[in-house]
Amino acid sequence: MRNIKIYSLCVTDSTNSFAKTLSDKEKNDALIIAERQTAGRGRMGRSFYSEKGGVYMSLLLHPECELSDAVCITSMAAVAVARAIEKHTQKKAYIKWVNDIYVDNKKVCGILCEGGGTLGGGLDYAVLGVGINLFKPKGGFPEDIKDIAGYLFENEQNGLKDKIINSFLNEFFLFYEEKKEYMPEYKNRSNILGKQISYTENGKEYKGIAQDITDNGNLVIKNENGICIKNSGEIKIVKNF
Ligand code: BTN
Repeated sequence: MRNIKIYSLCVTDSTNSFAKTLSDKEKNDALIIAERQTAGRGRMGRSFYSEKGGVYMSLLLHPECELSDAVCITSMAAVAVARAIEKHTQKKAYIKWVNDIYVDNKKVCGILCEGGGTLGGGLDYAVLGVGINLFKPKGGFPEDIKDIAGYLFENEQNGLKDKIINSFLNEFFLFYEEKKEYMPEYKNRSNILGKQISYTENGKEYKGIAQDITDNGNLVIKNENGICIKNSGEIKIVKNF
């Protein structure tokens, strides 16, 4: 893995926002890590729980691809996080499409990749944000996420955060730089394939079977009208079979 500049912060609003602001003057890749965030962001405009005890980091990247291809960065990150978690917890980590990581049926990590594009459709930079619930929160998780969110360790342990971050970076750059294959593993780690799921489109809820994930990370759903392919969105597992 190449050397990248690290910005290590006690607190920031959001490491993704910090990275975006930084992108104006920083033309090299960089890593931003914060101990906590005051306005951590998730997908679909949601907030992300970001008190002390978690990993909150963003990679500022300058990928040589179109905006539309940048979605693969998220899939690479999901596999890299899953590997890092397994290495240090010995627990199996699953990926819930698109990019949530689950351990023991609880969401322990969310990934938010944002791009800054040019008018021609090219990508100036991408910000890959990763939030991992590492330690059990002192006052528990907030009411709205307490049934879904999980953590990796009951008690804080010195050095563990750095180990997880290092493992993540090593694994991620294998895919991002060395172009190692990640999609077969992404699919193998999926906790939705073969299951009945529900998804919302234009305000209406649909059900179907999650049949496959394409090489570019799209979800193939079989429903009563045939096959539908989704490149983003939120799904719920309805039935495990
Ligand atoms: C999600 O679950 O919807 C994605 C959550 C992504 C959270 C991470 S934490 C580090 C980075 N900074 C943010 O504000 N968000 C991402």
